[in-house]
Amino acid sequence: MEKMWAGRFQKNLDKEADDFNSSIHFDCKMYKQDIKGSIVHAMMLASKGIISEEEKESIVDGLSGILSDLENGKLDFDPDAEDIHMFVESELTKRIGDTGKKLHTARSRNDQVALDIRLYLRDEAKEIGELIKELLKAIKDQAIKNKTTIMPGYTHLQRAQPITFAHHILAYAFMLTRDYLRIEDAVKRMNQSPIGSCALAGTTYDTDRYFEACQLGFDGITLNSIDGVSDRDFCVELLSDFSILMMHLSRFSEEIVLWSSWEFKFIELDDGYTTGSSIMPQKKNPDMAELVRGKTGRVYGDLIALLTALKGLPLAYNKDMQEDKEAIFDAVETVKKCLKVFTPMTVTMKVLAGNMYAAAQKGFINATDLADYLVKKGVPFRTAYKTVGQIVAFCISENLVLESVPIEKYKEFSQLFDNDLYGEISLENCVEKRISAGGTGLESIEYQLKFITEFINEKNIY
Ligand code: ARG
Repeated sequence: MEKMWAGRFQKNLDKEADDFNSSIHFDCKMYKQDIKGSIVHAMMLASKGIISEEEKESIVDGLSGILSDLENGKLDFDPDAEDIHMFVESELTKRIGDTGKKLHTARSRNDQVALDIRLYLRDEAKEIGELIKELLKAIKDQAIKNKTTIMPGYTHLQRAQPITFAHHILAYAFMLTRDYLRIEDAVKRMNQSPIGSCALAGTTYDTDRYFEACQLGFDGITLNSIDGVSDRDFCVELLSDFSILMMHLSRFSEEIVLWSSWEFKFIELDDGYTTGSSIMPQKKNPDMAELVRGKTGRVYGDLIALLTALKGLPLAYNKDMQEDKEAIFDAVETVKKCLKVFTPMTVTMKVLAGNMYAAAQKGFINATDLADYLVKKGVPFRTAYKTVGQIVAFCISENLVLESVPIEKYKEFSQLFDNDLYGEISLENCVEKRISAGGTGLESIEYQLKFITEFINEKNIY
């Protein structure tokens, strides 16, 4: 197939070099965006009298035919086409003749590709936002069911203080709301149309970039044509946002892996989201959570690949920038796939409240509350802290827990201890007493749930 740019050359591109240069096998993903942009470009050319109305009709009909043929499987991408832009244009010319050759007036592949990626990412970001909301719903529902399910809260992966399972997983919900907003914010910044920047310097034709921007749903145009074709900061920004999202999913995954181990047994994952072992008949492995954790590295890799590809590039377009697409496509697909299994895995996971409670009973996680008991009787916190530390050391040596130390023994440590201390340090009481805003107490959990529900229902609560 003769290259569109063949005019200046005496011989064909070497076969290996041709394959190396070609991007059709991955940028074909953007065929819808490319055709949509081309239709709007033809409309603009006609509205400014650069092509005639009949020519526009013919181009638009031809492009619409290509779109539906691709969608119905009647047309395949030609692997010999250099990229999706060349493919659509040469197919158009095949279908409508020389008029097809007018489409590229006042346009370059440089602004075309900058446009297509923005259109692609805008749609994908919206879908990812919806998937985040699905996960938020799943977390919210589990939290509603577990408002009073007591578990140990951890620091350093050591049992620290009693919390509720709702409180714990709602932490992830809040992280996800910010992931959602970060993506939304990046899309707002990205939503400026580069089309009409042409190769880099603009064009001598009297075009209407605002018309094109408006038709394509942009908020405005990129005001510097060199910037319009040169930067991929919007890709980097979204990849960063996806990386942060994956980091959150990965931490959650790690906990799911831990919680479903025999050592914890805090949850049981549904059979639909676990796998067996080829040799050990007893195994039920949390592969989905492990894969989400593993794929996080992939998304980070995509971000770093793109940052590195861009860092040394002089303005304006350089072919290195063709590398942006595989990184973006991979990150988008990976994030979507992860969310699509993570959400139903969360919905179907069984919370083993009894095991969580039993774990909360060990490890002296009510020691802070015992210190607070003394503080409320007038002991300075640091002194109370030290006394309780000594009681804990005593319990460890005697194989006791705070609840099982007799009151006479407590009085040896401080005369201020009384029988009411046992009620004060019960796990239920420790949780209920945490009344501070954002804490694990029920009122705070209800408030957090209301906040997340409103977020899901599109109320802007931040
Ligand atoms: N396939 C190219 C890319 O993805 C399209 C832009 C080509 N522009 C050029 N001047 N060679 O970046």
